[in-house]
Amino acid sequence: MLINKAIFPVAGLGTRFLPATKAQPKEMLPVVDKPLIQYAVEEAYAAGIRQMIFVTGRNKRAIPDHFDTAYELEAELEAAGKSELLEMVHSIKPDDMECVYIRQSKALGLGHAVLCAQCVVVNEPFAVLLADDLMVGKPPILKQMVDQFEEWRASIVAVQEVPAEHTRRYGIVAGTPVSERMMDITRIVEKPAPEDAPSRLGVAGRYILTPDIFSEIRNQPRGVGGEIQLTDGIAGLLRRQKVFAYTYDGKRYDCGSKEGFLQANIELGLAHPQIGASVREYLKTLNL
Ligand code: UTP
Repeated sequence: MLINKAIFPVAGLGTRFLPATKAQPKEMLPVVDKPLIQYAVEEAYAAGIRQMIFVTGRNKRAIPDHFDTAYELEAELEAAGKSELLEMVHSIKPDDMECVYIRQSKALGLGHAVLCAQCVVVNEPFAVLLADDLMVGKPPILKQMVDQFEEWRASIVAVQEVPAEHTRRYGIVAGTPVSERMMDITRIVEKPAPEDAPSRLGVAGRYILTPDIFSEIRNQPRGVGGEIQLTDGIAGLLRRQKVFAYTYDGKRYDCGSKEGFLQANIELGLAHPQIGASVREYLKTLNL
């Protein structure tokens, strides 16, 4: 297996989602019945990854608790004969999955959060998943990227086309297409104004990176917003080696924003095997 480790940076302050995120992590907000972080961990697991590295901060204790054994709950479910629920609770952390927690004591930026995990990643390529980007695809988006990595053996960032007026929300890439969905990146810019954006391809929260990224992040000055940016590290990396942009096949919900979070709840609610039909009926009654 080429990619066995995934970093989940979950130490951000989640200011766009206040007051919900005042005392609980944004990544624990549920879409229908599952917290965002669980969707991301399941996506990594489906891509063959078994070591999950969480970079956490203050107010994030609910995340390790979620992936820990819940003895009382499991005993209660077992005593009540609720075997399906028990099975579901067990499956949150399969036996062959390992969870590692690292603390980012100051939210200095996404690049800094990734750097905090270097001691665990050491010297192998790894994935980064931002759980507030809920990604839906078949095969799952990270699996698509791992398959590309097997072919190209270089860093890959997931991209999608974004409206011109939204370039300030994304890292924007430009480059040369090398296949239907892969592009050899020549430039990457963090949150450019529309007139400065080199294209309309915006980076989504899925990355596969070679370990050379760590020294690049370390060598970057503070970037946009005074933060240590992952994008700036990637810009450094592409001066040394190839970095590709992969236009993923699927859909992304920006669950760090209120609109994206509600869209995800509506669409995944409609697709849910138990409640989908009743959600559809309910939406019809709204006569929108
Ligand atoms: P965001 O840009 O969404 O920041 O970070 P945020 O703090 O979570 O949310 P807002 O913008 O204040 O509402 C992207 C990802 O990087 C992580 C976040 O947890 C999120 O998953 N992150 C960001 C860190 O782990 N550490 C940081 O210092 C910054």
